[in-house]
Amino acid sequence: VGSGVTARKGLRAVNDAVEAAQGGRAEQISASALAEVGLRYEVDGEIATITLNRPDKRNAQTFATWSALARIGDDLPETVRIVVVKGEGPSFSAGIDLRLFTPGGVPGEGSFSSVLGEGFEERIAQAQQAFLWLRRPEIISIAAVQGHAIGAGFQLALACDLRIVADDVQFCMKEPALGLVPDLTGTKPLVDIVGLPRALELCVTARKVGAEEALRLRLAELAVPVEELDTAVADLAAALLATERSAATATKRLLQGAGSRTLEEQAAAERAEQVVRIRSLFASG
Ligand code: ACO
Repeated sequence: VGSGVTARKGLRAVNDAVEAAQGGRAEQISASALAEVGLRYEVDGEIATITLNRPDKRNAQTFATWSALARIGDDLPETVRIVVVKGEGPSFSAGIDLRLFTPGGVPGEGSFSSVLGEGFEERIAQAQQAFLWLRRPEIISIAAVQGHAIGAGFQLALACDLRIVADDVQFCMKEPALGLVPDLTGTKPLVDIVGLPRALELCVTARKVGAEEALRLRLAELAVPVEELDTAVADLAAALLATERSAATATKRLLQGAGSRTLEEQAAAERAEQVVRIRSLFASG
């Protein structure tokens, strides 16, 4: 009962903050409201760190988790250039909180059975907002992934630009095995990274991918012993921050557009970005 009351309070605080923002009243979500929905959030200069912090439930995610993540994205200070997403405890995230599929649901949030009617697709669209902002050109997002990253956990890692994994990582796209599809924005990055045939095989078999294969499939940039994960992420963040911000942003924007452009269109996009870059170098010099 106690944890149900806490979760209800947390969800209400997150919803209040979202409503305040929609009404134009900027209001930060408090650390305690985030704690109540199982998140920790710290900003240290140019680096923001979001920690899924319900290790006793293997960082299972709920609608409150996604509302809060979206809200963090909305409120991200302009000074932040790197966003690290990590999980407390043995698993990065065991995916969606499976209690949402039970009649009792998650305390304070109910279950899917109460949102199946009109507006259900909009609820999914809202949940997807938690994942989409991590691709903004102005930031580079890094997932630090140890242990299980299942379903929504795998998709959260895929929502980030880069993934550093511990050698005990287990990625698994479990949704099809549960009668679902992956719908938290993970299918596009998965296909972009591993290609359609491998993405199809991974999703429909719902098999686990360990560190060695994750490296081979380019699902991870680097694999390290679990005790070195934080250091490896900090080293990568420092290396990324060494490049001047507007050049990094323009480069990310250019690379992100490459997949949907022809060679000639991409060449034109390179020119357009470079004209701005070189003019700004002369203006500042
Ligand atoms: N939702 C809710 N609770 C969960 C979830 C979850 N997805 N995963 C784990 N938990 C809870 C367990 O019920 C258990 O709670 P309890 O201590 O109150 O009984 C606690 O977390 C620890 O779980 P264990 O299974 O004991 O931990 P273990 O380390 O042995 O296994 C593992 C971890 C492999 C992640 C396992 O918990 C598991 O398979 N979880 C379900 C994964 C899943 O199917 N997720 C949904 C994917 S689909 C999607 O995300 C859309």
